[in-house]
Amino acid sequence: MNSAHNYGNGDASFQAAGGETGIFTLVNAFFDRMGSDERFATIWHMHPDDKAVSRDKLARFLCGWLGGPRLYNEKYGAIGIPRVHAHLPIATAERDQWLTCMSETVDEQPFAPEFKTYLMEQLFVPAEAVRRRCSS
Ligand code: HEM
Repeated sequence: MNSAHNYGNGDASFQAAGGETGIFTLVNAFFDRMGSDERFATIWHMHPDDKAVSRDKLARFLCGWLGGPRLYNEKYGAIGIPRVHAHLPIATAERDQWLTCMSETVDEQPFAPEFKTYLMEQLFVPAEAVRRRCSS
């Protein structure tokens, strides 16, 4: 029987990502990478000039999304991921910039290898929903 992980249960994913500290570290590294690598220039320039709020929003969102405290909702209210991207020109190339930037950042974190794989598989789902919403 395959019992390799239970990342979908409770706050297992939140814990595997190092909790709030681990997730804020991940998101800061994600934006640092996005801003310093030309391959991600398109999506970098889509964001507001001051990335502090973008960092705070994504980190807080991921805490709740991974089964931890719902920090985004506490500060900013309800959110629908496809809806908040609907005004943006995100097609396959932009979706893949985001996923590549995130994958390279995740790889550098001190997470278990199986959690890295699981996390990127999970993130593909909202990333694809964003692309579909934005391309239609
Ligand atoms: C598919 C590729 C994606 C691109 C190119 C992208 C790009 C962006 C941009 C440019 C913004 C800023 C929008 C603005 O302020 O006008 C934004 C906001 C945000 N994105 Fe994404 N995003 C992508 C996927 C995702 C995914 C997969 C998630 C979550 C798992 C996510 C979570 C967020 C959150 C929480 C915000 C803040 C929304 C708000 O409160 O205004 N994004 N994204």
